[in-house]
Amino acid sequence: MFFVLDKNNLLSLIESKIFLMKKSALKLLLLFSIFNCPLAVDALHAQKKSTIATDNKITEKVLQDILDTNKHFATQGKVADYIPELGKMSADAIAFSVVDTNGKVISVGDINKKFTMQSISKIIALMVAVQENGEETVFKNMGYFGSDKPFNHFGNLEITGKPLNPMMNAGAILTVSMIQGEGETAFQKVLKMVRFITKNNNINYNEAVYLSEKETGHRNRGMFYIMKNSGLITGEENQLDNYFKQCSIEVTAEDLAKIGYFFANECVRFDGDATHRNTDLSKLIQSQMMVAGMYEFSGEYARRIGLPSKSGVGGGITVSVPSKMGIGVFSAPLDSHGNSVAGYQMILDFSKRFGLNIFTQ
Ligand code: DON
Repeated sequence: MFFVLDKNNLLSLIESKIFLMKKSALKLLLLFSIFNCPLAVDALHAQKKSTIATDNKITEKVLQDILDTNKHFATQGKVADYIPELGKMSADAIAFSVVDTNGKVISVGDINKKFTMQSISKIIALMVAVQENGEETVFKNMGYFGSDKPFNHFGNLEITGKPLNPMMNAGAILTVSMIQGEGETAFQKVLKMVRFITKNNNINYNEAVYLSEKETGHRNRGMFYIMKNSGLITGEENQLDNYFKQCSIEVTAEDLAKIGYFFANECVRFDGDATHRNTDLSKLIQSQMMVAGMYEFSGEYARRIGLPSKSGVGGGITVSVPSKMGIGVFSAPLDSHGNSVAGYQMILDFSKRFGLNIFTQ
């Protein structure tokens, strides 16, 4: 069964709905938008934004509640120890940080706890590589694919000759090799960008984690040499060291929230600094976060949370709420995909409470 509404029916239906609305401004906006008035459409958009705007409701108390409700999930995960230094991380530390639409930072939990970025560094390296070489050059040698495989999968290097995407290890190793400069210059550029985005010059890499990665990263070394063999990579192994070093950059959950905010807002920093403003680049990074940022879990993650996100085996996840906020979480125990268990649950809870899933906007 279906109904056909003529114009009069439609108007009376609208009027009856408007009657129920409390704010007279909203009534006007709705009427104007029906008659396609551009001014009204703009105003309606502003109204929609402000309806979604959650800033006054995002308080330390709310974040603390989310953290307390979900911290027990950490017991379901396991701290990564395939890089021995990572295994030393406390399983109990947990932090949750949000940069709201006004750039205000709100954080709870172990907010001073530092952990290594690991794969989250891949979005920064991608940004620097694209800034220097252009997207076309960078993606000439790798795909935009999502994946049903773990982060260290590289079977496709044999089949297609190219990494699947810049989020998985093979593509990330290739990406940092494309950043110009000798020795550790490429790594220094990634570090400089992390410092800029977070406005935190104290950020550095953890030497012990770096050495541990270098010593045990045989699989990554294998990928490096397969790509060198096929001519995708022309440099020497110091380029691989740059990848290990970028993974070892230490941050806090607050730094991750600032990174999430940056990519959510056209590469404009949380304090409004627009030095790197680039709408297109932010779309590229967020699209890669969406399709591959959580590896083989990305599809289900998109279904459940619906926000561009990037995880690292250090236990961090950075989230971009497009055109709005940044979220940073930390809790070291991981699920079988290498994503923080309690971190995922905190983001899910927050996203549901504030209706942030982009597919429901
Ligand atoms: O290449 C590795 O094994 C690590 N340094 C980074 C992997 C990682 O963080 C995967 N993310 N969940």
